Amino acid sequence: MFIAAANLGNVHGAFGPDGNMFGFSYSMRRGEIAYLHMIGVYPDHQNEGIAANLIRENQTYWESEGVSTLTLTFDPLEGANANLYLKDEYDHPGWIRGFYPDYYPGEEDAHRFRVEYPFDSSRPERLREQYTDPEATLLAISDEGTVASGRSLATYDSSSGRWEVPSDLPGSVAVEFPWNASELSERRQVSDDTGSDVESQWLDAIKDVFGRLVSGTEDARDGDRRYTVVDMDPYEGSAPYDGENWGAANRYVLVEQT
Ligand SMILES: CC(C)(COP(=O)(O)OP(=O)(O)OC[C@H]1O[C@@H](n2cnc3c(N)ncnc32)[C@H](O)[C@@H]1OP(=O)(O)O)[C@@H](O)C(=O)NCCC(=O)NCCS
Repeated sequence: MFIAAANLGNVHGAFGPDGNMFGFSYSMRRGEIAYLHMIGVYPDHQNEGIAANLIRENQTYWESEGVSTLTLTFDPLEGANANLYLKDEYDHPGWIRGFYPDYYPGEEDAHRFRVEYPFDSSRPERLREQYTDPEATLLAISDEGTVASGRSLATYDSSSGRWEVPSDLPGSVAVEFPWNASELSERRQVSDDTGSDVESQWLDAIKDVFGRLVSGTEDARDGDRRYTVVDMDPYEGSAPYDGENWGAANRYVLVEQT
């Protein structure tokens, strides 16, 4: 890490009063853009705001170095990451600028969102003005953790094996997703609708839905309406998963780009 920092980029550390490092980030510059490549916080100190402070430090540092935008990618089913990266309270709030399905060559089902923090904040400001409470839920979670077919506007087409997005969507839509995708993976529960386990169902559903709607995505077809993800509302409550029911969940908020 020190060698990488000396040669290529920048390492920020978060230290406790005793001098122990609780978290770090690694970022590098390419021209006008800085890439946040890695960020990690020691498990005993997660959810204390340490990573959020590392994002702030990265923004301050790279802005002072004269770059125009900080960017990074993350797995859309990782709620803690989504919450962290899409927090409203940064000096330069982020927004999703692309969705990349099957991001890693040879590895299926590893999808990524790309977040941008432009240091000229005009675009996020404009987006916040457009933000309205979503009128429709494109993917909704059921009590069992599957995609809830009754409440979800997207429908599963068993002949194509794809989730279809209706064309008459309102200007803002919600996409719910499970609080803890790895918990789903451990349970390997099978969904009645698709015959696949619940984690695979979510991976397929978000691939089809975000692939069709989110700007910067190769899968988006000509004439498709383009949306951008402006926020992630984390589940509010003490027990998102009680061992039996999933209840409410995290949700992304998308607004149409005009
Ligand atoms: C992602 C990671 C860096 C976050 O670090 P952190 O210091 O815990 O982050 P913060 O405390 O600043 O913010 C996390 C937020 O997510 C929330 N959160 C945690 N788990 C969540 C979940 N499953 N769904 C939604 N929100 C969640 C926390 O409540 C917190 O929000 P709040 O500040 O509004 O209360 C840390 O979890 C980590 O190191 N994970 C493993 C490595 C990793 O995934 N790195 C990123 C990809 S390289």
